Amino acid sequence: MKFNINPGNHSTEGLRVIPFLENDLKEIQKEKLGEFPIDESLFSAKKDSSYAYSAAGELRLLIGLEKKPDYLDIENAFRRILSKNQHLIKEHLVLDFPKNFPDEYLEAALTGLLLGNYHLDFFKKERKKEFSSLEIDLILPNPIETKLIDRARKIATAKIEAFKLVDLPPNKITPDSLSDWAENLGNKLNIKVQVFDRERAKTENLEAFLAVGRGSSKEPRFIILEYRHPEAKKHIGLVGKGVTFDTGGLNVKTQSMHEMKSDMGGAAAVLAAAQLIADLQLPIHLTTIVPAVENAIDKDAYLPSEVIGSHAGLSIEVIDTDAEGRLILADALSYLVKNYKTDHLIDFATLTGSAIGTFGYECAALFSNNETLSKQLQEAGMEVGEKSWPLPIWESYAREMDSEIADIKNYHGKPMAGAITAAKFLQAFTHDHPSWAHLDIAGVSFRDSEFAKTKSGTAYGVGLLMKFIENQIEHQ
Ligand code: BES
Ligand code: ZN
Ligand code: ZN
Repeated sequence: MKFNINPGNHSTEGLRVIPFLENDLKEIQKEKLGEFPIDESLFSAKKDSSYAYSAAGELRLLIGLEKKPDYLDIENAFRRILSKNQHLIKEHLVLDFPKNFPDEYLEAALTGLLLGNYHLDFFKKERKKEFSSLEIDLILPNPIETKLIDRARKIATAKIEAFKLVDLPPNKITPDSLSDWAENLGNKLNIKVQVFDRERAKTENLEAFLAVGRGSSKEPRFIILEYRHPEAKKHIGLVGKGVTFDTGGLNVKTQSMHEMKSDMGGAAAVLAAAQLIADLQLPIHLTTIVPAVENAIDKDAYLPSEVIGSHAGLSIEVIDTDAEGRLILADALSYLVKNYKTDHLIDFATLTGSAIGTFGYECAALFSNNETLSKQLQEAGMEVGEKSWPLPIWESYAREMDSEIADIKNYHGKPMAGAITAAKFLQAFTHDHPSWAHLDIAGVSFRDSEFAKTKSGTAYGVGLLMKFIENQIEHQ
């Protein structure tokens, strides 16, 4: 797609899209619609509203953005343009922004527009039309930096990568294909990538990680990405759960197993975020680890009641093979702390059904031993429409994970406090890192939306991490 900023004589063939903020309804009417205003009873710029009509020889689409839209509302409103109005669009599109449309709204709008090109129909004989050669005239009454367009493109590209990683099925997204993805990124954007296979993982004592991968014919991959910037003042460590399919293992899942292709949503978030940070060349050091495995079943699969080792040296009693995410994360967190000195350590994981029970599909469960970090993550997420809310990690919860036979067990076996006890389990492997946070994104990384008939990837975490890191840089 090609953007033309304020072209002299823009073509009015095709569709003209005019976004409206509710408070400025009258002014925008005057500014944009001239002698053909639309009656307020037909269109009043309410959230998610739109109105299409033809006038003055052109097709117009008015879109309502309410009074104070949040980032995601704007992104979604603009994503609708290409994803839902394919029949209205030919080779040309005019985005006619009103005066004083804020820059951050513009970023969300352009990102959303580009996301509209994403469709889930990967394996259909006839795929939906992609608007790759679409020309877009941007009418911008206030001067903008062209950087903004470039930035929106990079954000959208990273989010689409995150969508794909989650939406593609587990015969396409495997531990091996995730490591290929990372190596590919490394070649493109100058990121150092290391991948440990089973043998190398053994020599690195990643025993909990290897135990989970034992039941699958697909080799596990422990993926490490190092992005370095010469002007960096801070180093952030990221970990993302990369279970490319979660059958539950021998504690086999009996419900909605097909949705477990999304159990690498944490990996998708941190990988796409690493792509975006590197693409934007943000002055920070970023080390990202993705332990990638398939939790499958065969004669070698790990057994409930097995006692396994871990990178941190703690022995773990496996009560439930479906609590596999915390095992691979335990090794990744421990490896990161022992091998890199980071200011903050943040993990993203589709870890528990309990996080969905608590917060539904609205917000992630946020856990941290550092109040400043917790607030900063929460605020960064709010700025981009990726909500999270804190839950406690008091020491009393850790007692639930005490094992009789080993140092710790992976499940307390009770239908209560599932997300919190999982977070306490993870914390035991962070070697007391003073600034650690865990986001349980089970509900928010793969969910129903207006853009697909099934649940689909949301790229939750990509915007949040970009904002969090940009805020870190601003205050360093
Ligand atoms: N991947 C699941 C968590 C999950 C559930 C993510 C629903 C997205 C939607 C995780 O590995 C799991 O199976 N968790 C169990 C843990 C239990 C066995 C201790 C859960 O939450 O039920
Ligand atoms: Zn599981
Ligand atoms: Zn899982």
